[in-house]
Amino acid sequence: MTVEYEVSCDRERIDVSWVHAFLRESYWAEGRIRETVERSIRNSLCFGVYAADKQIAFARVITDRAVFAYLADVFVIPEFRGRGVAKLLVRAILAHSDLQNLRSFLLGTRDAHGLYAQFGFGPPQDPSRLMVKYGPEASE
Ligand SMILES: CC(C)(COP(=O)(O)OP(=O)(O)OC[C@H]1O[C@@H](n2cnc3c(N)ncnc32)[C@H](O)[C@@H]1OP(=O)(O)O)[C@@H](O)C(=O)NCCC(=O)NCCS
Repeated sequence: MTVEYEVSCDRERIDVSWVHAFLRESYWAEGRIRETVERSIRNSLCFGVYAADKQIAFARVITDRAVFAYLADVFVIPEFRGRGVAKLLVRAILAHSDLQNLRSFLLGTRDAHGLYAQFGFGPPQDPSRLMVKYGPEASE
């Protein structure tokens, strides 16, 4: 049976409790409180993937919609992994009309470089030009 996937940017459809439950256990957002998740969703361009109306993946983009974007909090539920859902999601994100011709699109990952490399992401040309100030919740 082929499963139909729908990618949506409708923030109202996002299952915030479910996103929070995943993120607070993730390696990059361990312990993130619900209020922080709610605020981050409210202030980001969010993407959900749905199968039969049930949310199976999430990602959000922090952006000025002109020059810069940062891709964050990408995940697919375990039951749907290895079926191309993340690739569908990243493809949809990069095709979004507000995310065209940006000067730079950043992300951080521990082990999924091979996913993003398929879409043109790579190490910074000159890492010495990038600086980061880490906050208390910092492993992304
Ligand atoms: C990483 C994750 C989003 C991938 O989702 P997915 O739907 O299983 O991925 P897809 O089926 O679309 O395929 C991913 C492709 O990237 C490759 N890849 C590289 N690194 C990977 C990694 N760490 N995990 C999964 N796939 C990875 C896969 O081999 C696959 O390549 P292919 O095109 O040759 O088949 C998913 O495993 C996940 O949610 N993991 C837990 C959360 C997480 O680590 N998020 C990423 C934070 S940057």
